[in-house]
Amino acid sequence: MTTAATLSVAGLDFAYPDAGAVLRDVAFEVGPGERIGLVGPNGAGKSSLLLLIAGALRPGRGRLALDGAELVPGRFRPQVALVFQEAEDQLFCPTVAEDVAFGARNLGLGGDALKDRVEAALQTVGLAHLADRPVHHLSGGEKRLTCIAGALVMQPRLLLYDEPSAGLDLRNRRRLIELLRSCEQTMLVASHDLELLLEVCPRVLLLDRGRVVADGPSAAVLADGELMAAHGQEVPGSLAGGAAGARVRHRAAG
Ligand SMILES: Nc1ncnc2c1ncn2[C@@H]1O[C@H](COP(=O)(O)OP(=O)(O)OP(=O)(O)O)[C@@H](O)[C@H]1O
Ligand SMILES: [Mg+2]
Repeated sequence: MTTAATLSVAGLDFAYPDAGAVLRDVAFEVGPGERIGLVGPNGAGKSSLLLLIAGALRPGRGRLALDGAELVPGRFRPQVALVFQEAEDQLFCPTVAEDVAFGARNLGLGGDALKDRVEAALQTVGLAHLADRPVHHLSGGEKRLTCIAGALVMQPRLLLYDEPSAGLDLRNRRRLIELLRSCEQTMLVASHDLELLLEVCPRVLLLDRGRVVADGPSAAVLADGELMAAHGQEVPGSLAGGAAGARVRHRAAG
């Protein structure tokens, strides 16, 4: 049975070698089983933050810890799985089943145990019928679902989702929402799909220019029109009394 992890992020600074500061003094705690949304404009630093937590990038300063144990950059961390924003960055095996199996194989699984896990993960995302399909013959949404299965198969204690609903049709988006809501693992979900975050994540962090500018209950942060507008966001329709209401307000303001 998978247990949920506690994540601590303290004083995190990060810059790419050929770019300015991307994250500045980012600090937050995530309790076991908490689901947190990451919101913010393009370039705010959401994906970079997830890559740092996954260990794919090395922080310039600061500390990342899982259940109190420091996460060392570059060291394999099977308890953390990242679903990349760009599926192409994650998929590289010839077939769907082989790609999904990759992470679990790295954990030392083989034989029937591996086969069962892969089948279960594909079943969960509704892709069992595509197990033998070459990855490069998948549609965009199917690629995204393959990436999600590849993370689930590891049964991690911390799941990092980067724009998981991008490219999904409404039925698959709904399946994703139910899946995320049913998972007991600790979870960070970066998304511009604010309605999805409202359904999945009780708490959100709003990032802008590498800083956490708000951290609180999703329904309160996302409903704060002034705060959202100051950071290039809009209050989601379900909190603003409908899209038409939001449009009228914008016109009146302009
Ligand atoms: N490999 C890289 N090298 C240099 N700069 C990068 C690299 N990747 C991202 N950046 C820059 O870092 C900043 C943060 O990017 P990041 O991808 O973390 O943003 P984001 O919040 O995920 O944006 P989006 O909503 O568009 O996905 C951006 O200004 C981006 O141009
Ligand atoms: Mg991103």
